[in-house]
Amino acid sequence: MSLIQERVAETDAPILDILAGRWSTRLYDAAEAVDEAALASALEAARWAPSAFNAQPWRFIVARRGTETHAQVVSSLTEFNQGWAAPASALIVFVAETEQNGKPVATALYDLGQAAAHFTVQAHADGLYTHQMTGFDPAALSAAFDLPATQRPYTVMAVGALGSIDDAPTAVAERERAPRTRRPIADSVVVDD
Ligand SMILES: Cc1cc2nc3c(=O)[nH]c(=O)nc-3n(C[C@H](O)[C@H](O)[C@H](O)COP(=O)(O)O)c2cc1C
Repeated sequence: MSLIQERVAETDAPILDILAGRWSTRLYDAAEAVDEAALASALEAARWAPSAFNAQPWRFIVARRGTETHAQVVSSLTEFNQGWAAPASALIVFVAETEQNGKPVATALYDLGQAAAHFTVQAHADGLYTHQMTGFDPAALSAAFDLPATQRPYTVMAVGALGSIDDAPTAVAERERAPRTRRPIADSVVVDD
């Protein structure tokens, strides 16, 4: 089995190794059960993300491969995402709580994204690979898990051990070999006084 070379970002300024070294792989080892200690730490990191008014407007559905829950999450994914994400050890649905006590939570998606970012960084530090997806049917998950209207499935994250590129379909292997790119920071900083 050949593991893909780590896809470390080429940065214009030094950043933490764990941030440069995180990437969204589509290669997962279907033989590996999820590292439970690492998963617990990643969820704990998400728990300790900041949120406006400490509202913590996030919920998580943890679906380990082989469970009925996992099958339900897999069936909600687009065909392309199913192909590479189903072998991952676990799929986590990141759910935004858009309303609390009858009032909208204006920052629900922002806060959920921070929780997801915390999760990915902790996971990669502990050797778990992650890949977030919006290519899924949120309505199917809401129905499958009987979520109230105030809880909106927003992303699904594949989590697991890195797999081999040898058996990957061409479309996946090509993406995995492609250079990782970002536009220059100057194109994102609109004012720099
Ligand atoms: C919110 C979100 C949704 C995404 N949805 C998908 C998806 O449905 N399918 C997919 O293959 N990749 C998906 N991606 C992965 C992005 O394409 C990837 O993060 C981006 O190209 C940057 O690559 P990197 O994470 O390896 O740096 C998603 C990423 C994020 C953050």
